[in-house]
Amino acid sequence: MKLGILGLGKMGEAVVEGLRRSDDAKNFNIEGSTRSPESAQEAEKTLHIRCHTDNVKLAQSVEVLVLSVKPHQAEAVLRQISKKLTAKQTLISVCASITTEQLSEWSGGKIAVIRAMPNTPCLIGEGMTVFCAGPRATKAHTEIAERIFSKVGKTAVVEEDLMDGVTGLSGCGPAYIYLVIEALSEAGVKVGLPRKTATLLAAQTLLGAAKMVLERGEHPAYLKDEVTTPAGCTIDGLMALEEGKLRVTLIKAVLAAAKRSKSLRGA
Ligand SMILES: NC(=O)c1ccc[n+]([C@@H]2O[C@H](COP(=O)([O-])OP(=O)(O)OC[C@H]3O[C@@H](n4cnc5c(N)ncnc54)[C@H](OP(=O)(O)O)[C@@H]3O)[C@@H](O)[C@H]2O)c1
Repeated sequence: MKLGILGLGKMGEAVVEGLRRSDDAKNFNIEGSTRSPESAQEAEKTLHIRCHTDNVKLAQSVEVLVLSVKPHQAEAVLRQISKKLTAKQTLISVCASITTEQLSEWSGGKIAVIRAMPNTPCLIGEGMTVFCAGPRATKAHTEIAERIFSKVGKTAVVEEDLMDGVTGLSGCGPAYIYLVIEALSEAGVKVGLPRKTATLLAAQTLLGAAKMVLERGEHPAYLKDEVTTPAGCTIDGLMALEEGKLRVTLIKAVLAAAKRSKSLRGA
């Protein structure tokens, strides 16, 4: 697949690097573009792909384009390349907040549009990417997006009105979890563990618990009950978390980020 990545910042780089490390790497012929020549040179060096600053040339030479510039940069980039885009190509935007209707209008209306919300763990093949189909996108176009993003993690499809919520949950979620890991690590230091060991314990505990949820398919509350012995230690820890309003705080975090995603487009 000839794949063009418009924008090779944190997210574009995570997708490219994840694909390069995947078992399907040889089937992706990736080319990228950035705004500055310095960024293009850096991307060529670190990602080992062709990269330049000519968006129009890139748009003309690939089958699938991933738009990975900042949301406020999306309109200018799409209008710049719109005349070169055809109905045979697919546009996948990972820009937070920008709707498929906006993407379609700015890109000239011929190309099929998919809106996606990935997250940075795509870099190590553990991303979560959620798609919705826009104008002219058929099942075949969604499958193209699946083919790319399933190589760098898990995927799901939702209706477009849920995409701001998705942004607040899995798009921004890694940052919340890094905070949780950091806090647990601090706790480890407080009880006397060396910092490195404390961080290992915190991160591996999160990974193990997440895998239990995904692989056993049980409700998280059931798994929590399984490790909570009557009058044991865990229930005291859980009580402290309830007192600190952990659950409602996390819910509020997702709602706040979703609201921000919506407001970015003035909705
Ligand atoms: N970061 C995340 O965790 C995350 C998660 C999900 C979705 N997203 C979405 O991913 C998108 C990119 O985010 P990011 O964090 O990767 O941003 P970023 O690190 O700021 O990267 C933006 C990239 O776009 C390039 N760019 C800017 N203007 C351009 C132009 N006119 N032509 C070609 N390239 C241009 C920049 O090149 P220069 O370096 O030369 O300026 C840079 O490579 C955003 O829309 C965001 O909503 C991000």
